[in-house]
Amino acid sequence: MPTTEYPTLLARNGARLPVLPLTPGTGNPLAHFNAGLSAATRNLFWPHAYDATTIARQITRHAQGIDRSFLLFAGDDAVGYFFLWNFAHAVPLLGLGLTDAWQGQGLGAQMLDRLITEARAADRVGVELTTVTTNERAFRLYRRAGFQHLGEIENVAGDGRMVHEYRMFLSLKTGALPPDRTFQPPV
Ligand SMILES: CC(C)(COP(=O)(O)OP(=O)(O)OC[C@H]1O[C@@H](n2cnc3c(N)ncnc32)[C@H](O)[C@@H]1OP(=O)(O)O)[C@@H](O)C(=O)NCCC(=O)NCCS
Repeated sequence: MPTTEYPTLLARNGARLPVLPLTPGTGNPLAHFNAGLSAATRNLFWPHAYDATTIARQITRHAQGIDRSFLLFAGDDAVGYFFLWNFAHAVPLLGLGLTDAWQGQGLGAQMLDRLITEARAADRVGVELTTVTTNERAFRLYRRAGFQHLGEIENVAGDGRMVHEYRMFLSLKTGALPPDRTFQPPV
């Protein structure tokens, strides 16, 4: 595992997990991350397809500063994936997910905090996200971090399904509002 300027995250079981950016070196672990998810988890977190072309596009978007995309590692395995899409925009779009074995370890809150810190440091006015309406655990995590529930939208999942989701917004500047947008994977 290469060394990194990025901090480790501390799981409730005492494990310290390193964070690495999405690069050509972490593209394969990202594909394995998705392949190893249970169907239940994948239905809650399928932000984009995981074929080689899509992963290469996501790597390029990170390298060009279009997105900020990170992986959380346990040994050689990516066990978390978290990102801010459209990072150059006033209101980036946030996503995060953990493999089944690493859920319930307090890591979701730390990944969320890292992304919010990045957005704040870059002077963004807010952060937006969507979450499947049945995802109580994620909804609770986001509410606790200060996200407001704005309404419901239709989103296109990574496998092309249309999913019904809550739209949530964290204001980082007084009076900030999310933009009109179409919810779909990056193109
Ligand atoms: C959602 C997710 C990111 C949360 O991260 P996590 O590290 O597992 O979070 P935790 O389980 O430690 O805690 C989250 C909160 O939800 C609560 N919670 C746990 N299981 C719950 C459940 N089944 N229903 C409702 N709340 C639940 C926890 O008690 C905790 O709240 P608390 O701190 O007030 O007690 C992670 O579970 C995950 O990746 N899930 C699958 C993919 C996913 O849903 N991604 C988000 C897409 S929007």
